[in-house]
Amino acid sequence: MGYIMLGAPGAGKGTQAMALSKEFHIPHISTGDIFRMHIQQQTDLGKKAKEYMDQGLLVPDELVVDLIKDRLAQEDCKEGFILDGFPRTIVQAEALDEVLQELNIPLKTVINVEVPDEKIITRMAGRRVCNHCGGTYHMKYNPPKKEGICDQCQSSLIQRKDDQEETVQKRLQVYHDQTKPLIQYYKDKKILLTVDGTKSVETVTKNMIEALGESA
Ligand code: AP5
Repeated sequence: MGYIMLGAPGAGKGTQAMALSKEFHIPHISTGDIFRMHIQQQTDLGKKAKEYMDQGLLVPDELVVDLIKDRLAQEDCKEGFILDGFPRTIVQAEALDEVLQELNIPLKTVINVEVPDEKIITRMAGRRVCNHCGGTYHMKYNPPKKEGICDQCQSSLIQRKDDQEETVQKRLQVYHDQTKPLIQYYKDKKILLTVDGTKSVETVTKNMIEALGESA
């Protein structure tokens, strides 16, 4: 079964996708994390993606769609997957429908994590991430056990370059213009589940898993 996490930048998609991945034992696939890995390894794709990401813009559809096609065809996705940050445009959503049809994997639920814009800015300012394993923390709301150190792999935590306020504002605008229409797209397909993302991390996880159980 396939799941998608939808929501504004900083709504908590990555945080909740990780929790769901542990609960359902299916891979968490974040296009943002894949691009950041390519940037770190200085691949051609990484160099191209960086130009867009640093400005808070979306990477062109064709680059993302090819990457997701390859990833979903891998063995570990056969039993299911959680997509985080993909699709982000109607073009990407239509391409995903085709890929899943070819692979014969049904899309079960699209989880829309709802958080108002004004809360997003505070969240982004306090976010710290692990460049090594992708762990995500918040200095106030979800702190690591030891300051500046990842709980999972003990690497140092960093602040993402695109978490500066000006870039966050741009990412929010891009979300409203290009990604928000996907809410209606999946509503029409009757597979949209909206969760209130303003509650604590643990409460959002609990509510989401309960709601997914009810819709099973
Ligand atoms: P990506 O990495 O996907 O960034 P994003 O969608 O902007 O989402 P974020 O990772 O910023 O936030 P999130 O919702 O995962 O929140 P998180 O759990 O971290 O993409 C980055 C860039 O890559 C894009 O701008 C684009 O350029 C490119 N890209 C990626 N995919 C693409 C695609 N498909 N097409 C084109 N371009 C693409 O939480 C945020 C913070 O809040 C953390 O500090 C966390 O600890 C905290 N937090 C989480 N939940 C809570 C809670 N309930 N209460 C309090 N704090 C919380």
